[in-house]
Amino acid sequence: MPDTLTVTDNRTGRTYEVPIEHGAIPATALRQIKTGDDDFGLMSYDPAFMNTAACKSRVTYIDGDRGVLLYRGYPIEELAERSTFLEVAYLLIHSELPDAAQQREWEYDIRIHTMVHENVKRFMSGFHHDAHPMAMLLSTVGALATFYPQATNIKDAEQRRISIWRLVAKMPTLAAMCYRHSMGFPYVLPDNDLTYVGNFLSMMFKMVEPRFHPAPEIEHALDVLFILHADHEQNCSANAMRAVGSSQPDPYSTTAAAIAALYGPLHGGANEAVLRMLERIGSKDRIPPFIEGVKQGRERLMGFGHRVYKNYDPRAKVIKRMADQVFSVTGTTPLLDIALELEKIALEDEYFVARKLYPNVDFYSGLIYQALKIPTDMFPVLFAIPRTAGWLSQWEEMLLDQEQKIARPRQLYLGAPRRGYVPVERRG
Ligand code: CMC
Repeated sequence: MPDTLTVTDNRTGRTYEVPIEHGAIPATALRQIKTGDDDFGLMSYDPAFMNTAACKSRVTYIDGDRGVLLYRGYPIEELAERSTFLEVAYLLIHSELPDAAQQREWEYDIRIHTMVHENVKRFMSGFHHDAHPMAMLLSTVGALATFYPQATNIKDAEQRRISIWRLVAKMPTLAAMCYRHSMGFPYVLPDNDLTYVGNFLSMMFKMVEPRFHPAPEIEHALDVLFILHADHEQNCSANAMRAVGSSQPDPYSTTAAAIAALYGPLHGGANEAVLRMLERIGSKDRIPPFIEGVKQGRERLMGFGHRVYKNYDPRAKVIKRMADQVFSVTGTTPLLDIALELEKIALEDEYFVARKLYPNVDFYSGLIYQALKIPTDMFPVLFAIPRTAGWLSQWEEMLLDQEQKIARPRQLYLGAPRRGYVPVERRG
């Protein structure tokens, strides 16, 4: 059987054969389907990319029906159990796990780029004390472009390499600076004897003690959370990274665009929204009226549902198991009981069952961050730190893909036809 699709255009009665490759038809093959010489040709209409592949990728695989997530072929559960975030970042960016020498080199390359230019502090001092940390992060990452003008040379593999080191290395430093700025605390210099996550915790929480010693359970939990958030194939922010990157600006500006996409409550801002939702519900007896509000469309159950997963999000499973370990160190929170009850009710309710709405990665991550004493508005920032590795691997893959061009969707124009300008005194 040929790998083709036969289409009959009922407007003309003509039949066309369209090739099928990797389970998809090239959308441009539809352009030959015309009603006449002056017809532009058929397009596909797909707002929100519900059924359109915009790239070929070898980074991350998701089977949403079975709840499978693989980074470069490795199951997320195995990586969460056995790897570290920095190793996973290497895997995403370089396609393979590092050998011992590559791992030492990679860790060194990241470690020596953790500091930021002193002017970054001055730049940040212009932000209001109550500025949202995610807004501060996206502007500051964008501002890095002004410190590294040579990064615009994205066709040079060496420049891309250095930018990748800098972005992965500086993201925790900038994230911690956003937090310390909002708290009015002095910034803490990186401590390069600590791990990637240990150093982040030190820059967040060190006060007057000569050395910050992160609790090993907390450091491990955050490292696992970073692994779980490192990439998620063509989500909204990865798509922003690819779309903005396709016009070929420097990677700092491109990453700032991805952070902006992540900021929204339907994407990386969901972990923050979950916490605010749980606080608003306040007690278990108020869950049924809340669920009723969701079903009537007045509310949305944040941390539930996913465009791709129509099954339990595998990341949520790992997080739920880990939450117990974290709470055994930090003590539990009444919000956890509300979350557990909310999940139980929702998973049995016809509304959620029929729509295949399950908890996603953000349902429990916020509770862990809260137990770690991280303020709620920092949650999306904690998502952005590890996702930077995923964005950069998607970005480089896009740049090296010969089939990619500047991203430029088509539209179906439904507006006014051509008409003449009317002076204001003759309108109305
Ligand atoms: N609460 C209540 N109803 C929902 C929810 C929800 N969280 N999610 C989807 N639905 C309903 C939706 O109203 C629709 O119902 P109907 O068919 O009657 O109109 C149906 O389920 C399908 O939903 P959709 O909005 O068409 O699905 P989508 O693929 O466009 O949206 C989503 C996916 C993640 C934006 C959405 O599920 C949502 O808003 N969830 C809450 C926000 C959230 O937790 N986001 C984090 C996603 S995971 C982390 C990440 O990768 O960013």
